[in-house]
Order: sequence, then structure tokens, then C-alpha cells
Amino acid sequence: MRNAYLDALGIDRWVARHGAQEPAALPETADEPRPEVARERVAPAAPPAPVPLGPITDWGVLRERVAGCTACDLCKTRTQTVFGVGNTRAEWLIVGEAPGAEEDRQGEPFVGRAGQLLNAMLLAIGLPRETVFIANILKCRPPGNRDPKPEEVSRCLPFLSAQIALLKPKIILAVGRIAAQNLLATDAPLARLRGKLHHFGEANTPLVITYHPAYLLRTPADKRKAWEDLKFARATLARLAGTN
Ligand code: URA
Repeated sequence: MRNAYLDALGIDRWVARHGAQEPAALPETADEPRPEVARERVAPAAPPAPVPLGPITDWGVLRERVAGCTACDLCKTRTQTVFGVGNTRAEWLIVGEAPGAEEDRQGEPFVGRAGQLLNAMLLAIGLPRETVFIANILKCRPPGNRDPKPEEVSRCLPFLSAQIALLKPKIILAVGRIAAQNLLATDAPLARLRGKLHHFGEANTPLVITYHPAYLLRTPADKRKAWEDLKFARATLARLAGTN
């Protein structure tokens, strides 16, 4: 079933360490973020503190607030906001960086090649895309897929916090440096953040960090480490469920 799904997508299978077959690199596309390796060296300035939205108790209201947002200049260049997609009762929240060109066109996160790899990664730990919720740090595309600016993050992060408050995920998987650093309010490199259990927000939600799928497309050798991260996240959730 899983393999049929991956084959149908036309992507190589994401397999465990002893499965011998590592997924091959897929061709790069212009709408994917630039390689993580190159960006890892640039520590972002500390963003201004996010301004809380106030309590929002309804997904529809939050969706409208995001759709109408003009809090930063990205509203002038976006085609549409990209709210997030998935099961609003999901246990897993996946957090990426920001919409790319294709996401801006379609209004849905992770729909390009990186999205296909993300789907395969999730499926490999038993999570079809439609069973999780997927959102980004930014709801609007930065022109040219540049890094989010600190003030854009501080204006947008309250939307993600509101999504987290509504969803109440059991675990958050942050993919990539930008998501990880902004959720943890740190400029530590991704290599130091992955492989450990973090927590996010007032609910102390377990947070695991892994590589961005666009980075993995360019650096397939790190897919093994990403696979370890995914297994770590899955085991963490199982352990926490067992202690409830
Ligand atoms: N990369 C991201 O971080 N998010 C998307 O939605 C698409 C690509």
C-alpha cells in the first residue's frame, strides 16, 4: 500500500536503514528554498517579540484573519495566503518555512517536489499526508524564496501559535533551520537542534527537528539522519502516549 502510493507519485521509496535502498535525489526546481547548507552559516537577528492575536476559538475565524492579513509587505506580492492544510484533529503538526512559488499559486503548503518528499517521509512512519496538519512559519511567500525577515516572522508567528492552540497537536515536527530556529527562538545551527526532544509554547508541546525536504533533495546523504529523526519523533510520541 505504502509502496504503491510512492510509486504512484513517481518518487523513490523512503526506506529504513537496513532496507538498502536510499531514495535518489530528485531534480531541483526553482520554487524550492535555497540549500540549507549554504544558509546554515547565517545566524538571523533576534526577531521582535511576536504580538499575540488574542484568543481565537474557531478555525474559520483564524482562516479569515490569515486571508485578510496585511501586517507586513508580503501581502503586496503574494497571490494568496497559505493557511495550512490537513486534519484539524491531527496528533502531528508539521511546520515548514514559508510558501514557495507553487504553494503561493495553489494556496496549499508543500505541493512541489519538496512536498512529494515530505509526503514520502511521513508515509514512511505510517502517516499519510491527510492524517497530519501541515503549516508554515510564514503564511505568505517571500519574493524569490528569500529567507523570512525577522519582522515578518514576528508578525506571522501568532497565526501559527493560534493554529497550535486550536489543533493541540501531540507532537510538532519542524522541518528545516528556519522553522526550527523560529519555534525555538534560537540561532543554533540545525545540526545542534536535531536529535533531541524540545518543547514549544505554553502547552509544552513536544517538538522534534529534522531537515527540510528541499535540503534533502539536494543532499540525499543526509536522508539517513532524517530517517533517524522521524523514528525518534515516532518513538517519542509512542512513549508519551504510553505514560498517559
Ligand atoms: N517549503 C516550505 O518550507 N514550505 C512550503 O510550504 C513549501 C516549501
